[in-house]
Amino acid sequence: MAKKYPPISSKYPHFLHGADYNPDQWKDTPGILGEDMRLMKLAHVNAMSVGIFSWAALEPEEGRFEFGWLDEAMDALYENGIYAILATPSAARPAWLSQKYPEVQQVRPDRVRALFGERQNHCYTSPIFREKVRTVNRKLAERYKDHPALIAWHVSNEYMGYCNCELCEAAFRDWLKIKYENDLDRLNKAWWTSFWGHTYSSWEQIEAPAPHGSKTLHALNLDWKRFCTHNITEFYKNEIAPLKEITPDIPVTTNLMGTYPDINYHQLAPYLDVISWDNYPRWHSDSPDREIAFNTAFKHDINRCLKDGQPFMLMESTPSNTHGMAKLKRPGMHLLSSIQAVAHGADTVQYFQWRKNRGGVEKFHGAVVGHSGHENTRVFKDVTEVGKTLEKLDSVLGTTVSPDVAIIYDWENRWALNDIVAIGGHGRDYENTSVQHYKELWKRGIPVDIIDQTADFAGYKLIVAPMLYLVRPGTAAKLESFVEKGGTLVITYFSGMVDENDLCFLGGFPGPLRKIIGVWVEETDTLYEYDENYVTACENNELDLSGEYRTAGVCELVHPETASVLAVYKDDFYAGRAALTVNSFGSGKVYYMAFKNNDDFLTAFYGRLIERIKPLKAVDADLPEGVTAQLRTDGEREFVFLMNFATEERCVNIGGKGFKDVLTGESVINEIRLQKYGFRILERL
Ligand code: GLA
Ligand code: ZN
Repeated sequence: MAKKYPPISSKYPHFLHGADYNPDQWKDTPGILGEDMRLMKLAHVNAMSVGIFSWAALEPEEGRFEFGWLDEAMDALYENGIYAILATPSAARPAWLSQKYPEVQQVRPDRVRALFGERQNHCYTSPIFREKVRTVNRKLAERYKDHPALIAWHVSNEYMGYCNCELCEAAFRDWLKIKYENDLDRLNKAWWTSFWGHTYSSWEQIEAPAPHGSKTLHALNLDWKRFCTHNITEFYKNEIAPLKEITPDIPVTTNLMGTYPDINYHQLAPYLDVISWDNYPRWHSDSPDREIAFNTAFKHDINRCLKDGQPFMLMESTPSNTHGMAKLKRPGMHLLSSIQAVAHGADTVQYFQWRKNRGGVEKFHGAVVGHSGHENTRVFKDVTEVGKTLEKLDSVLGTTVSPDVAIIYDWENRWALNDIVAIGGHGRDYENTSVQHYKELWKRGIPVDIIDQTADFAGYKLIVAPMLYLVRPGTAAKLESFVEKGGTLVITYFSGMVDENDLCFLGGFPGPLRKIIGVWVEETDTLYEYDENYVTACENNELDLSGEYRTAGVCELVHPETASVLAVYKDDFYAGRAALTVNSFGSGKVYYMAFKNNDDFLTAFYGRLIERIKPLKAVDADLPEGVTAQLRTDGEREFVFLMNFATEERCVNIGGKGFKDVLTGESVINEIRLQKYGFRILERL
């Protein structure tokens, strides 16, 4: 529901703008704190993520805490009107801790224990590590609970990875015992362990997947990944326990990483007060910027949907270059990419990092203040411009969007698809395929929710479910009721093939979805790149599609049961057989794409479908290539973000009804010119 959400902190009800701030690296540089404060005010920043990797500075020896440097930084920030998103330091352990308690060091899948070094590589189970984390977090909370600068907790940093130590493996077995109610036979059956005779006769025989052990028991892989998400969530809950106890009113978050594969963020999200994520697209690379733009937009939308539309934080982005090729953001791109986050629901724009390190691997990564140390740089000016722009967007703060369209992008489905070794490896194309469908909506300025199978489907007009291979319990029934009540479902090849344990549905694919799709999938043909086949639109098909479209490597051979055929294969032994079908079910419809397709087909298909369904659009206008429009609203006021990711000027005709430019206050009608990387934020009058 479109509504107005409260600001992240009532202490500062405005857009947050800031960066990771690591004063612990500069303790020995006299005068630098004061200089940082001078520069921060110049840059129009107002919130810093403080001390993310500072455990060694906070607790230089076991049990001896040093807060002086942090007191100074927190006080200086507050005195200068800047707030603190204070970090808990678990992402990087002090050396003494690893030395004294080797169990905190992560064990890799090959069962080799890591040495001290790097970061985000601890054991998530180790009781001593959890205790040490709780202690330092408690000390921080006790010390800063009444500090006026404190507005949020930045818990750890980018949780990632798995640990395969004995403690983790034992915890995995305990988790399995609960899941399978102590019934090993049940687990053996669910995992189909009779395949290659892998039947377990005792719980102790179960080991997590390993490169030199089990790799091919897909249900084991799935349960291991589910357990790791659970274990990281438990670790996070352990981290926030003292924070919630001592500072119950300060929101907690941990920075996520877009479509990071190894953690099902939908499971972690309920324990975050606000979602935050780190975004590092490679602008100006070998894909055109508009492609980077819709890939990035897809991830922003995931983050907005992790808490049902609640605005999120863009916790990290780079003001110039990231790692690898150090390609700089071209003029205009920093502001545009920051506004892009806002357009999709961010209430903050933050960077990694404030001041470039002098040493270490990130010394040449983009930062607000470079090694020159002053404000007279292009990047500093770009950042200042973002700050000044955000200051004019108070009316947008807390607004969101309620799209009519949702795409199902599901982590568990993704894990299962990734494991498929047959059907040409096309299973691994899940994210890209989902984004290809998303693009068709993005380029038409149609807001989209990206949800997983656990979401409530009611309320959407159109649900797109690319490659819904693993069907979780309850999903088929929810989709049935959605379509029955008048919803439209678009679903593709590789759907309805396995259950939550990766066991194939028997009796004919697409298993539990067969009734609503109205076809039986008999076989799947995967083609080499040099193989050509086409799909030809049938005469007088209900979508008025015409012409032919090249397939892209997957052609399912299907038998329409209750569905009607809209397009057929052109060549090969299955020429003339159904490739695109539609099934009426209750008052709704289900479109089934039996083939993997190219852009030209998706463009034609969605063009026709959207004319019929008429989902909510940000603005009633035809958008030229590279331009998108997004919407934020509180249900009363509506803000349209028009953004041009093309490398040339573009024109958009928004009609004569009238908008106000939020940044300049001027009224705007009819034709709008958007310069290269230009944007406008318009309030509908
Ligand atoms: C991640 C980390 C940061 C920094 C950046 C560099 O997002 O959270 O600490 O390493 O990458 O891009
Ligand atoms: Zn472990």
